[in-house]
Amino acid sequence: MEHVLLTEQRYVPLEKIKSMHRQALENPEKFWGEMAKCVEWDKSWDVVLEWDPPFARWYVGGLLNICYNCVDRHINGNNRNKAALIWEGENGTSRTLTFYELYREVNKFASVLLNLGVEKGDRVAIYMPMIPQAVISMLACTRIGAIHTVVFSGFSAEALEDRINDSRAKVVITSDIMYRRGKRISLKSTVDRAVRECPSVNYVVVVKRGHDSEDIRMVNDRDYFWDELMSGASRYVEPERVESTHPSFILYTSGTTGKPKGVVHSTGGYLVYATKTMEWTWGINPRDVFWCTADIGWITGHTYVVYGPLSLGTTTVIYEGAPDYPSPDRFWDIIEKHGITVFYTAPTAIRMLMKYGSEWVKKHDISTLRLLGTVGEPMNPEAWKWYYEVIGDKRCPVCDCYWQTETGGHLIYPPVGVQLLPLKPGSVTFPGIGIDADIVDEQSNSLPPNKKGLLVVRNPWPGMLMTLWNDEERYKAYWSRVPGTYCTMDYAIKDEDGYIWILGRADEVLNVAGHRIGTAEIEHVLVAHPAVSEAAVVGKQDEIKGETPVAFVVLKEGYAPTEELKSGLIHHVKATMGPIATPSILFVVESLPKTRSGKIMRRVLKAVASGKEPGDITTIEDEGSIEEIERAYEEFKGKL
Ligand code: PRX
Repeated sequence: MEHVLLTEQRYVPLEKIKSMHRQALENPEKFWGEMAKCVEWDKSWDVVLEWDPPFARWYVGGLLNICYNCVDRHINGNNRNKAALIWEGENGTSRTLTFYELYREVNKFASVLLNLGVEKGDRVAIYMPMIPQAVISMLACTRIGAIHTVVFSGFSAEALEDRINDSRAKVVITSDIMYRRGKRISLKSTVDRAVRECPSVNYVVVVKRGHDSEDIRMVNDRDYFWDELMSGASRYVEPERVESTHPSFILYTSGTTGKPKGVVHSTGGYLVYATKTMEWTWGINPRDVFWCTADIGWITGHTYVVYGPLSLGTTTVIYEGAPDYPSPDRFWDIIEKHGITVFYTAPTAIRMLMKYGSEWVKKHDISTLRLLGTVGEPMNPEAWKWYYEVIGDKRCPVCDCYWQTETGGHLIYPPVGVQLLPLKPGSVTFPGIGIDADIVDEQSNSLPPNKKGLLVVRNPWPGMLMTLWNDEERYKAYWSRVPGTYCTMDYAIKDEDGYIWILGRADEVLNVAGHRIGTAEIEHVLVAHPAVSEAAVVGKQDEIKGETPVAFVVLKEGYAPTEELKSGLIHHVKATMGPIATPSILFVVESLPKTRSGKIMRRVLKAVASGKEPGDITTIEDEGSIEEIERAYEEFKGKL
């Protein structure tokens, strides 16, 4: 008899994938028009693609609703009582919402938002831990055509304030506290500090996660508890039929300047791309239980925790806590408990769990797994091997998926079918279906195998960002860096078999444990401190996190480089930006190495931070001549 727990791995023949890719490049309108049938439209589009470089508008004239597609259409079908969302709390409690239950909650919360005066196009900020209400909030926003902006709950009050002010959010949704490794962290008090200087915010909605709630200060006529609002809400809210090009959400990410970029995603193109890449990458079947461990504060949490899985009617799992709390087998325990079939996480988590050893895995029956995924940073072969052998039992392909906040969904990845080819540890394989990716020099010339260059995409695709919020000019830079292409700002090479290997960022953006952090943002925070006159931040390799920030600061006259001041500066960054941006080391220096034209020689700083020779480190814009850099390096090293 069939082992009912095991779901089959359904491979699409490789030839079929290749032919889809060909069709997509030869006739994108026909191909993507066909693909768009994966979602329900209230009105079909007039034009599949309006391409006015660098602006792409997909499915122009079409009307649809994301929430309807993720929730309502499944309760109309056979999935009414199927688990839509399985929530695993930090302390082991769990809650399952069927599609019908999710529908009820989302409708009620959509009614709450309407009652708070939120209208189509208004922005709503979500600053919450990984609890069901976070997903309900996102879906309720899209139901009424409001634009959500989710801010990672590890970000500080200042970071939240900036994002609320840039998007001019009317409502903030949060919780009293969140749990992290058994500790209670007050989110509401962070929101209170953030919204002091946010004139756009009319209301703050507070979920009681603490139950035995500590005294939280509620501001009259501004703050309301989730449960109280829900008890007076309507049971049904008609989904707002929005234009395909209506923004569904803004998600802030780091760039090369101090100001985060508000990436704006569409409704129709985004949902089609999320749905199709979900299906193509994971070969989803109805019995799958899909667990992507990303936080909803990041794009992975939008596309592959919420919208992709729910659009396909797939059970999605969310987990509130840390991978190793209360013990290092927490992930394996969750896989066993819920019978996860497809597991998608980040190399940082794998490296961390690998360190604890395989015995923790062996305690659990994780044989339900059929496919493994990874995203966010280059995967080192050692971690890949452990993931493949110990977690995947040498049965489950490891899909390394490359993409960005801006791309909306996977860009370079192995769709099912391609997974039958040998997967090379550390390679993200081939350009995804319909993605005309290439590795080029600065003039957009294709480079031969094994030559390092910039990874670019030559054609628009439905999941790509529409623009940057309040910053159309800055959006244009994506398409002007390498003429005529979307430039990812990642270095890559293609090997002789055509496999793509990502080598890391070509700009001053760090990747700390899979999180994008602009060095300029940290520098900006450091120079805002009264003791600092100049600051430069670079990345240093880290065994677990991939990279960590290292800061070099020049003090103002009258300040001494005491240990107290140094730790005060580190704390200042932590308090202003949040823990992920905290420098692992901070050096006080008398001056920063600069070229004659006054440009900071980052290559020198990077070499010093990583204990390497400057020649080992390349940057996109080489500052100064090699001799100049080497001289500066020797001098600078001597002074530390
Ligand atoms: O440098 C690449 C790295 O993460 C960046 C995008 O970060 P973010 O917008 O936060 O989105 C992360 C999750 C989609 C990229 O420019 N990156 C992402 N995936 C990979 C990767 N580096 C290597 N391998 C990957 N699979």
